[in-house]
Amino acid sequence: MKAAVNKIYGPPEVVQVMEVEKPVQKDNEVLIKVYATTVNRTDCGFRSAEYFISRFFSGLFKPKFKTLGNEFAGVVEAVGKNVRSFSAGDKVFGYNDVTFGAHAQYICIAEDGAFTTMPQQSSFEEAAAITEGGHYALSDIRAAKVQAGQNILVNGATGAIGSAAVQLIKHFGARVTAVCNTKNVELVRSLGADVVIDYTQEDFTKLTDRFHFVFDAVGKSSFAKCKQLLHEKGIYISTELGKNSANVFLALTTPLTGGKRVLFPLPTISKADVIFLKELVEAGKFKPVIDRHYKLDDIVEAYRYVETGQKTGNVIITVA
Ligand SMILES: NC(=O)c1ccc[n+]([C@@H]2O[C@H](COP(=O)([O-])OP(=O)(O)OC[C@H]3O[C@@H](n4cnc5c(N)ncnc54)[C@H](OP(=O)(O)O)[C@@H]3O)[C@@H](O)[C@H]2O)c1
Repeated sequence: MKAAVNKIYGPPEVVQVMEVEKPVQKDNEVLIKVYATTVNRTDCGFRSAEYFISRFFSGLFKPKFKTLGNEFAGVVEAVGKNVRSFSAGDKVFGYNDVTFGAHAQYICIAEDGAFTTMPQQSSFEEAAAITEGGHYALSDIRAAKVQAGQNILVNGATGAIGSAAVQLIKHFGARVTAVCNTKNVELVRSLGADVVIDYTQEDFTKLTDRFHFVFDAVGKSSFAKCKQLLHEKGIYISTELGKNSANVFLALTTPLTGGKRVLFPLPTISKADVIFLKELVEAGKFKPVIDRHYKLDDIVEAYRYVETGQKTGNVIITVA
């Protein structure tokens, strides 16, 4: 089968599309023919190993996962002899950051992994883009214990995480102020934001409103700059470590003060989370934002684009 392979860590150019052996499902696994996947910031992080700490998960000197790709949508081709909940022909989608492998024509995943059947109305491309930004946003929203009626600010509302966060926070009944570039003001409004701040015109850290939760979904701010935006016991979360990993240090120290806090939750995803996101999609409450489409053969171009830090939502790789 065809797969995108990176045998070493490095820039997008280390990825080569080549023929590799088609995987065979184990007794507890499902073999899926991949129709669509994404290139996202998680793939970029694992491919470049830019943060050395990630190598403790992905291989110290060379990548343990030679074919990346964590999001997928496709059709079950075969199931292992112990698999009961899926059968050949099922249309499925989900997330695999345990072994990756979705940048290929076929992937195997354990029956109890983070995947389920596709939302009724979704295309393969749309289904492939539901889980990465969706589960990071959901993890942070849960950590901040977002409640109906709260006032929340999302910076970077046009990323995969930010665009999911705006929609999920609205689903939980809170009021959203979203920060984005001029060209995306209408898009972000259409996601449900109550107030949209164009960061080319206005510095959101100077707002006089007070928020229960400031979520920097692109990691461009700091707790120091956002502190005055928070209510007395408000929460700040950034998707980046911050300068000198400050956000990790602050997550350990600020909870001791009893006041404004930084959290740095480790994102998790389960089958139940994927089903939750699927049900929101079916109910019309969550629609992943899709930017560009690339073919698997052009995946290096896709990586280059994603690494500009300027994609709007998700970048799709069409495989089948
Ligand atoms: N290391 C990992 O494994 C990992 C995994 C996932 C995510 N992350 C981190 O999480 C963050 C978000 O990732 P993502 O995939 O959702 O988004 P992304 O690819 O980083 O998207 C960036 C979006 O943010 C906007 N943006 C850029 N600069 C901005 C600024 N100063 N203020 C407000 N918006 C700005 C961009 O639009 P405009 O420039 O047009 O405004 C673009 O739409 C990234 O920092 C990423 O590194 C890391």
